[in-house]
Amino acid sequence: MEQKGIFITFEGPDGSGKTTVSTAVYQRLKDEGYDVIYTREPGGIDIAEQIRSVILDPKNTAMDSRTEALLYAASRRQHLVEKIIPALRENKIVICDRFVDSSLVYQGIARQIGVEEVYRINQFAISDYMPEMTVYLDISAEKGLARLQNREFKDRLDQEELSFHKMVEEGYHSIIARFPERFRLVDASQEKEQVIEDAYQIVKQQILSHE
Ligand code: TMP
Repeated sequence: MEQKGIFITFEGPDGSGKTTVSTAVYQRLKDEGYDVIYTREPGGIDIAEQIRSVILDPKNTAMDSRTEALLYAASRRQHLVEKIIPALRENKIVICDRFVDSSLVYQGIARQIGVEEVYRINQFAISDYMPEMTVYLDISAEKGLARLQNREFKDRLDQEELSFHKMVEEGYHSIIARFPERFRLVDASQEKEQVIEDAYQIVKQQILSHE
């Protein structure tokens, strides 16, 4: 695999503050002069964002779990070839908000399709591209959901019951146990500034290990 850049992902349950934290870390790196891009899943580019809006539209209650898994994988494929791979080839640091672990957890475990099945369709989508490090924002389903209460718009997955979000929380811990060398955990129940600082230090160490 021809990959020169640094591919780092952020993962966490809904309400973990993942987007706020990953964009803040990105901004700090950019301010320091690093050649870094921020992107998110599902989406980051037009075709993938269009797929995202179909997946997350609250009116699509009839969507089958496997359809959902395939759409996430399709969105991931497009995002990877159009944005992530070109950036890595240009030696950039890529900070990506969610990647394949989200599908293993949400579709594989919480939707109960099975991790191996979901991994297989994703392998078709991503080939060998995997992040070298994944920052996990660790928070309980209850605390995450409490934060979501303040959101004006809740997408189709945000609207799931607490039991679904509990499966997401537990699902992440089983995926972390499976890939312990890739995951780094941050206590996301701390004050926002501290979560950003902890995540930044972890990412910075990883970047420095390349220099
Ligand atoms: P976001 O809130 O981080 O933007 O993600 C939107 C929702 O999509 C969130 O509830 C998690 C879910 N999701 C999956 O179920 N599978 C996936 O593969 C991805 C990337 C996201």
